[in-house]
Amino acid sequence: MAIKRVYFFGGGKAEGHGGMKDILGGKGAGLAEMTNLRVPVPPGFTIGTEVCNLFYKNRGKIPADVNREIAAHLARLERGAGKKFGDAKNPLLVSVRSGARFSMPGMMDTILNLGLNDRTVQGLGKKTRNDRFAYDSYRRFLMMFSDVVLGIDKEHFEDLFEQKKFERGVADDLDMGAEDLKDVCGKFKSLVKARTRKEFPQDHKVQFELARDAVFKSWNNERARYYRRANNIPDDIGTAVNVQAMVFGNMGNDCATGVGFTRNPSTGGKEFYGEYLINAQGEDVVAGIRTPHQIKDLKKQMPGVFDQLVKITARLEKHFKEVQDFEFTVESGKLYMLQTRAGKRTAAAAVKIAVDMVKEKLISKEE
Ligand SMILES: Nc1ncnc2c1ncn2[C@@H]1O[C@H](COP(=O)(O)OP(=O)(O)OP(=O)(O)O)[C@@H](O)[C@H]1O
Ligand SMILES: [Mg+2]
Repeated sequence: MAIKRVYFFGGGKAEGHGGMKDILGGKGAGLAEMTNLRVPVPPGFTIGTEVCNLFYKNRGKIPADVNREIAAHLARLERGAGKKFGDAKNPLLVSVRSGARFSMPGMMDTILNLGLNDRTVQGLGKKTRNDRFAYDSYRRFLMMFSDVVLGIDKEHFEDLFEQKKFERGVADDLDMGAEDLKDVCGKFKSLVKARTRKEFPQDHKVQFELARDAVFKSWNNERARYYRRANNIPDDIGTAVNVQAMVFGNMGNDCATGVGFTRNPSTGGKEFYGEYLINAQGEDVVAGIRTPHQIKDLKKQMPGVFDQLVKITARLEKHFKEVQDFEFTVESGKLYMLQTRAGKRTAAAAVKIAVDMVKEKLISKEE
């Protein structure tokens, strides 16, 4: 039998688990473990870290047998999600996410909403009866893909976006309507055409392969190499690539996205800690596009979701015996977990947390 290199997760079961960080990377191992714990996680698969090395050895190409394995997993994901990649009526959209064995926060690349093109964006708008959401997702994808894959700095897209907001006399992204966002998408595509002398790739297969390879390449971008040197992380372990069905925090006011810690990372205090935005996508919270809310406000805004989030993350902390640093998204009132990892803390906080955890009987003194 051929060596297994791609690992599925979804529907309450994962082929991998939390102990497989070497192969799945930290993010992939966390997603697999959460899936096995029956935490709500959008389905997907992880292309193992060895494929990154194969990719480099093979001069920037994925070997054919691995490609077949990936294709089979994509088909499985389509079945699991009940949507098809490139389907004009009900398109599957995915994120393509980096994730090495050691946490390298924000150092490598991730692309969201992959699978959108001029046709699927219309289908998505129709199906959800929400053109604003569809074009909001498309403009995000056009920008991220162009930045990461085509090497056109995202600043240029942000400038075009700001210009449009200025013309429309609005200060907040949320005041941009469907037509405005559609117009922005047109401007983004023109920019790509002007820079690359080619149309923005419309074929979802081409989009996927380029994005996957770009994430493997991001292992060797300058940021990531610098970070590895500074943190004594070996250069030859490679990144995994996680391909995951999208869930949408940007469909309206019953949607949200956020990040948090199960304890305060700077003081170690036992307080639920974090930030979120209503009607937004993941990167908005970190990018500071709008001022995020404190996570305690979620208790008022979405009490059911808040309770569930507290329960799930407390369970994860207990399971991993470490403070958890997590990401989540709420799509139409339903909570999904997108990442969990050991929280980075100050030394003083680390001591307080360890002492508290012994008191709370989460860990033994020896641990
Ligand atoms: N399938 C998905 N659906 C919705 N949001 C997603 C999905 N995949 C990723 N995201 C969100 O997109 C953002 C970027 O993803 P990702 O976690 O891969 O990179 P990062 O957080 O920038 O860096 P790091 O590698 O340190 O985690 C995160 O906020 C994440 O929660
Ligand atoms: Mg992340």
